[in-house]
Amino acid sequence: MTITTAGTTAEDIAFHYDLGNQFYALWLDETLAYTAAKWDGVPAGEPDATALPRAQRAKLDHHLDLVGARPGDGLRLLDVGCGWGAMLEHAGRDDRVAHATGLTVSPAQYAFLAARALPGAEPRLESWEDHRPERPYDAVVGMGSFEHFATAAMTRAERLGVYARHFEACHGWLRPGGRMSLQTIAYDGAVDGAGAIGEFVGSDVFPGARLPRLSEIAAACDPYFSIVALSASAEDYARTLASWSARLLRARAEAERLVGPEGYRRYRRYLRASEMTFLRGAVTLYRIGLRRRDEPLRLPA
Ligand SMILES: C[S@@+](CC[C@H](N)C(=O)[O-])C[C@H]1O[C@@H](n2cnc3c(N)ncnc32)[C@H](O)[C@@H]1O
Repeated sequence: MTITTAGTTAEDIAFHYDLGNQFYALWLDETLAYTAAKWDGVPAGEPDATALPRAQRAKLDHHLDLVGARPGDGLRLLDVGCGWGAMLEHAGRDDRVAHATGLTVSPAQYAFLAARALPGAEPRLESWEDHRPERPYDAVVGMGSFEHFATAAMTRAERLGVYARHFEACHGWLRPGGRMSLQTIAYDGAVDGAGAIGEFVGSDVFPGARLPRLSEIAAACDPYFSIVALSASAEDYARTLASWSARLLRARAEAERLVGPEGYRRYRRYLRASEMTFLRGAVTLYRIGLRRRDEPLRLPA
C-alpha cells in the first residue's frame, strides 16, 4: 500500500524510519520513544540505563496530563505518529486510556507494532490525512510527527494551510471538550534549515521534513483550539540526543553490523550535530496543551 501525504513522502519516511527496527532499538531506551524526554528532576549523575527511560516516561505522563487522562478514566486516545508504540504502551497503565489508536506512515514501524499486539492498542498504517474514525476521541497526542507535515518546498502560506487542515481534522475527531497535546521541534534562532548542519540533516537524515515556527502553529490552531499550556525546552532535546549518541557509541559494533560503517557514522554525526543546534538556540522543543473550541472561530483574514 502506498501512502501519499502532503508532507514527507512515503519514500523519505522509509529512508529514515525503515532503516531497521533492531538498529533503533540499539540506542533508544526500552520505551522505544523517539522524541525528546523530559528531564526535570533526573539528576545529572544518574546512570543512563535508568535515567533515559525515566525521563521518557515522565514525558509520556506529561502529555497524558496535558490531555487530562487520569488513572481510571479509560479514555479513547489517538496518537498521531506513534513510532514504535511508546505512548500506546504507556497510556494503558493505570487505565488512563482504554483504547489507543496509533497512526504511523512507516511500514517497518507498523509491522513491529502489529507483532507487538499491545492490549487496547490499534496501530494503523495511515496518514492523519486519511484517518476517519468511527467514533470521536477524548484526546489526541502528537509527538515528533508535526515536523513531517510540511516540506521545505512549501511556501509559508502552503505550510499554514497544511497545519490548519491538521488542526481542523483533530477538531473534527475530538468530542466536545476534548484535549490535544503536541510536542514538536521548531525553529527558534534560525529561520530555516540553511547552514551546514541544517542541510546535512535535511538531505542525509530527514529528507522531506520541514520544521514549523511557533507563530505558524499558533496561527493555524487558533480557529480550532485554545492554547492552555505552553513550554519550551531546548535542553530536554539536547540531553536526549546526548544520551542516544552515547548509547549508539557503546553499541558501535552491532550498529555497524546492522547498517554498515557509513550508516553508523551518519547517525552519530546527526545526533551530535542536532544536539548542537539545540544548545546554540537555532531550534527548540515545544510542548503545547490545547483545548478544543466548541465551534471553530471565524477569524478575520
Ligand atoms: C520522530 S517519530 C515519533 C514517534 C513517537 N511519537 C515517539 O515519540 O516515539 C515520528 C512519527 O511520525 C509519523 N508520521 C510522519 N508523518 C505522518 C503522517 N502524515 N501521518 C501520520 N504519522 C506520520 C512517523 O511514521 C513516525 O511514526
